[in-house]
Amino acid sequence: MTTGSTAVIGTGLSGLVGSKVVDLLSPTFVFENMDLNHPTLPTDITNLDQVLTAVEASPASTLLHFAAYTDVSKAWEQRNDKNDLAYQVNVIGTQNMAEAAKRTGKHLVHISTAYVFDGEKKGMYTEDDLANPIEWYGQTKAWAEEAIQDSGASWTILRIDQPFRSDQFVRLDMVHRTISNLHAGTLAPQFNNHWIGPTYVDDFAKVVRWALESKTEGIFHASSGEQWTDYDLALTIQELLKIPGEVRKGDVEEYLKKSARPYQRNTAMSSKKLRSLLPVPQMTIREAIRHVTFAYVASQ
Ligand SMILES: NC(=O)c1ccc[n+]([C@@H]2O[C@H](COP(=O)([O-])OP(=O)(O)OC[C@H]3O[C@@H](n4cnc5c(N)ncnc54)[C@H](OP(=O)(O)O)[C@@H]3O)[C@@H](O)[C@H]2O)c1
Repeated sequence: MTTGSTAVIGTGLSGLVGSKVVDLLSPTFVFENMDLNHPTLPTDITNLDQVLTAVEASPASTLLHFAAYTDVSKAWEQRNDKNDLAYQVNVIGTQNMAEAAKRTGKHLVHISTAYVFDGEKKGMYTEDDLANPIEWYGQTKAWAEEAIQDSGASWTILRIDQPFRSDQFVRLDMVHRTISNLHAGTLAPQFNNHWIGPTYVDDFAKVVRWALESKTEGIFHASSGEQWTDYDLALTIQELLKIPGEVRKGDVEEYLKKSARPYQRNTAMSSKKLRSLLPVPQMTIREAIRHVTFAYVASQ
């Protein structure tokens, strides 16, 4: 390890959000990812013995928990089945991380989601709003939050929504998917009555750094603190990238009549609580999309 760098043991560090955070925070932090591909201690987070062995062997004082079963549609097909992957990874896996944090005295930083809310609020959700999930992924993530809070470990929970990165990951995030569809002329009508609170992952890395360094306890909304419709976001991407074509309006209420899985109408969160503590400013979503467009143009 480089002199002056800090060890962090984590999960999900190969995923869409975790891998970018690792890119941006290395080498200030030296990350060790607990997963099945680990060279000496392959770890399935649903197995408490494997988790304890890896966490106890680590010199890190913090545990950064990104790993999750994130396919919301497939999770819905598993609803009420506590033996299936969504429950096992999201709830049992998180219980195991909290148990390991407690037993080793490490601080746990856990990544959660706005899908713990029902989506019926008109304005932005605050940390004082009660979780009330309406589908299985959100339910498992809400139980994960409860498991952490009941664990006796030291913890920070960071909730995000619709994360997007400056660069393109193998699994496209919402902004890169929109760019790709705009170019291909395959963009579906975009809801102008469905609200989201996008999270710029490059900025979120600064929040993770703050949580790792300060070990501040509590739940924090770590999205942009802005409320966007899918339609306005697509229009902004189109304008900044100067992609020709029409962005058509869609209606979430029509979509919900046909959708088998419940879908939150609003997942925007206020980030005021976090911003009052963060030592560094965060970009607006418009600025962040401008960054994405620079990176996108440079990569073409
Ligand atoms: N993406 C979103 O839209 C979104 C929105 C809000 C909140 N979040 C939260 O943000 C966090 C990161 O999401 P993401 O989109 O970056 O996830 P992702 O790309 O789907 O990656 C999931 C990660 O979890 C790991 N993992 C899954 N099962 C595991 C197991 N049994 N043992 C060890 N590792 C396991 C995967 O490792 P392998 O690749 O080795 O399988 C992968 O690194 C999650 O907690 C998610 O709930 C995401």
